[in-house]
Amino acid sequence: MAPVHDILIIGGGGAGLRAAIAAAEINPQLDIALVSKVYPMRSHTVAAEGGTAAVIKENDSLEDHINDTITGADWMADQDAVELFVNEAPAELIQLEHWGCPWSREPDGSVAVRPFGGMRIERTWFAADKTGFHLLHALFQTSLKYTSITRYDECFATTLLVENGRCQGVTAVELRSGMVQPVLAKAVIMCTGGAGRIFPFTTNGSIKTGDGMALAYRAGVPLKDMEFVQYHPTGLPGTGILITEAARGEGGILVNKNGYRYLQDYDLGKPLDVNDPGHPQKRTMELGPRDKLSQCFVKEHDKGNTMPGPHGDVVHLDIRHLGEQKIDKKIPFVRELATNYAGIDPVYEPIPVRPVVHYMMGGIHTDIEAATPLPGLFAAGECACVSINGANRLGSNSLTELLVFGARAGRAAAAFAQEQPACDTQALEAKAKDEQVRIQKQFINKTDGTERIASLRTEMMATLEAGAGIYRTEASLQETCNKVSELKERFANITLDDHSLTFNTDLTAALELECMLDVAETVAYSALARTESRGSHQRTDYPKRDDDKFLAHSLAHRTDGSPRIEYLDVVITRWPPAERKYGD
Ligand code: FUM
Repeated sequence: MAPVHDILIIGGGGAGLRAAIAAAEINPQLDIALVSKVYPMRSHTVAAEGGTAAVIKENDSLEDHINDTITGADWMADQDAVELFVNEAPAELIQLEHWGCPWSREPDGSVAVRPFGGMRIERTWFAADKTGFHLLHALFQTSLKYTSITRYDECFATTLLVENGRCQGVTAVELRSGMVQPVLAKAVIMCTGGAGRIFPFTTNGSIKTGDGMALAYRAGVPLKDMEFVQYHPTGLPGTGILITEAARGEGGILVNKNGYRYLQDYDLGKPLDVNDPGHPQKRTMELGPRDKLSQCFVKEHDKGNTMPGPHGDVVHLDIRHLGEQKIDKKIPFVRELATNYAGIDPVYEPIPVRPVVHYMMGGIHTDIEAATPLPGLFAAGECACVSINGANRLGSNSLTELLVFGARAGRAAAAFAQEQPACDTQALEAKAKDEQVRIQKQFINKTDGTERIASLRTEMMATLEAGAGIYRTEASLQETCNKVSELKERFANITLDDHSLTFNTDLTAALELECMLDVAETVAYSALARTESRGSHQRTDYPKRDDDKFLAHSLAHRTDGSPRIEYLDVVITRWPPAERKYGD
């Protein structure tokens, strides 16, 4: 018999745990399940470093946070969503403190905030530079006190179970046994994170393979704004490990091969005196938004001003002038990572960095209650697109987003579940059997395939970077679309090396690749269709923003062939589109 719950959450990271707690708090009688591919403390939220944004200081205002977010998004964010996000953010972070998150403090004991890219004022709360680690711990330990939450750790969700037009559960491979089991519920919340792993250079952990996005897409839910992929300007070459924006927030500078602060040449404001600790670091140069800083790197590269390295060209992030004491207090993890993964101590040497894929602005189409168009399915966190990030997310808005919309999703799913009849158990179990047969036939028992998972994955990453990277053209995107279609066909002919059932990582890699190919096609086709440049989507053949045609979200729908791209107007309330300027 399949286990039946009231609410099922897929994903044990920040959004999933916040949703579970919200649902448990609102009604202790609700039976809540949480299915996670990894043990929750290994979710990628743990890797978040620099901080999480919310208005707390007197010199700040909700209006400014809204403005910065909308400007940063290049007017692609839905303004009703941004407004409620900003309004609900401070309470979420205070709540986190009450659950044990050790926010760094000012000398007077109040919560400390630091400057972050694209924010006109410092409003990023932090716990040194291990904010995600502490935030996830606080959520996880809080979730443990609710006995109404049942966890299914290390279970890989493979398909959504839909019956009578309602999402009523999921099938999941229990990694320990290889068994495919249904987990049923009256409402399902997808919180599976992003899909940075479709690209070769990324800050994202290996688990971020777009699983939840692909499951929703296959179930008929459109993926929204998938063309908007964020490159973070400072990843370590080779590994892609994040060197947090906090390093620049605390005063770090970017220099080219001549030791020159090249960002001053790119309309991002004037150099500030980095040796003046009292100088306001306001939206200038190194604290410009991520899309623009990543684009500047490419321009410097094209001018011949970057430095070649074993993993491609780099520039230098210099934090030496901050001094050892400040580095060890404010950004100790930067020192640890640079020492262990780049072999340099940033107290004495600059850090080689390059842009790396960091975040998907797009995701599962939801409304402001986190509901998708499929009744019974909700989504929150990076896998969802509500949308507050538009064409470019501001650093430190994402942890706050997963709290605000994780909580909203938990409450909305609770309200929905309470009104539903019992699950259609028999029909759902039959569907789960079909999925078990599919997985056996397509992967476990299949021995005559000739394609290898690693080769297809490498080819997918290469075509995404080459065709749908920081700058794109019709020709590059068309080639990527064609290549992804070819890879999808070839995927049908893969073979596993491991045909056993116990912790079969080969099977996990195959299931992940299947998801990544679905997500990759939505990125490439959505980017091909958007013939304008906006935020992170830069078309050299269409260099201007085109509000007449494209002040609209793309919606990629799955079909038997290429995705069908439709558009939905952006919600504009009080902030009419304007030119996007920095350095003010
Ligand atoms: O650079 C960082 O610490 C990243 C933060 C974020 O993506 O919000």
